[in-house]
Amino acid sequence: MTAPLTIAIDGPAAAGKGTLAKRVAHHYSLPYLDTGLLYRAVGRQILLAGSDPDDPSEAGAFARALDVAHLDDPTLRGHEAGEFASRVAVHGEVREALTEFQRSFAARREGAVLDGRDIGTVICPNARVKIFVTASPEVRARRRTDELLAHGRDDVDYERILAEVKARDERDSGRVVAPLRPADDAHLLDTSELDIDAAFRAACEVVDRVLAEPDRH
Ligand code: CDP
Ligand code: CDP
Repeated sequence: MTAPLTIAIDGPAAAGKGTLAKRVAHHYSLPYLDTGLLYRAVGRQILLAGSDPDDPSEAGAFARALDVAHLDDPTLRGHEAGEFASRVAVHGEVREALTEFQRSFAARREGAVLDGRDIGTVICPNARVKIFVTASPEVRARRRTDELLAHGRDDVDYERILAEVKARDERDSGRVVAPLRPADDAHLLDTSELDIDAAFRAACEVVDRVLAEPDRH
């Protein structure tokens, strides 16, 4: 029997993971989970409660109590939630509390696409396809800047966004638990010079190649 098509897409902030993962999921008719939303939801709840995101047990309690039914809240997409997300994501207690939901989503019989930071390394080490999406910090900051401008924001400062992108990279890569890094068997996809369509085509080539291989599982 062929193993389900589980696709892990990881990479740093604003590399284009979400855009790519959504298109790949649609193309292969697979369900999609943006795992960053889980960390964002925990971060946002701590923010609203006025609690301390840097306290592991406090943050862990919020993560265990998380109701995953409300991940479509648009406020989760904002910069503040992202900042709090990366602060709560350093705690092992928080990551553990969110693991089971992600693994059971990944284990669906019809397959799944998950994007995040540790999908290929920790959540789904046996994923059939692993793609690590990168782009230079400058390109990623430019994309975030353009995204905010397109949403009508007029208080957007590229240099500040670049500094934030770099700070988030450092926190995500430098943490002890599940740091951001490509799995040994991940396909690296540098999108610095690729637009969304070109990145999508490159990702589909990777998936189609794996699908054409004899099943190893
Ligand atoms: O979209 P963007 O890359 O800016 O952020 P995100 O994917 O929504 O993730 C927000 C934060 O959650 C990241 O900076 C990570 O610290 C954390 N995160 C994580 O640690 N592990 C994941 N699987 C997903 C997100
Ligand atoms: O999920 P992640 O934070 O990695 O990135 P995203 O939200 O998918 O993409 C960030 C922004 O970059 C979006 O506005 C995308 O449209 C844009 N993007 C791009 O211009 N070229 C790419 N190859 C990928 C994304």
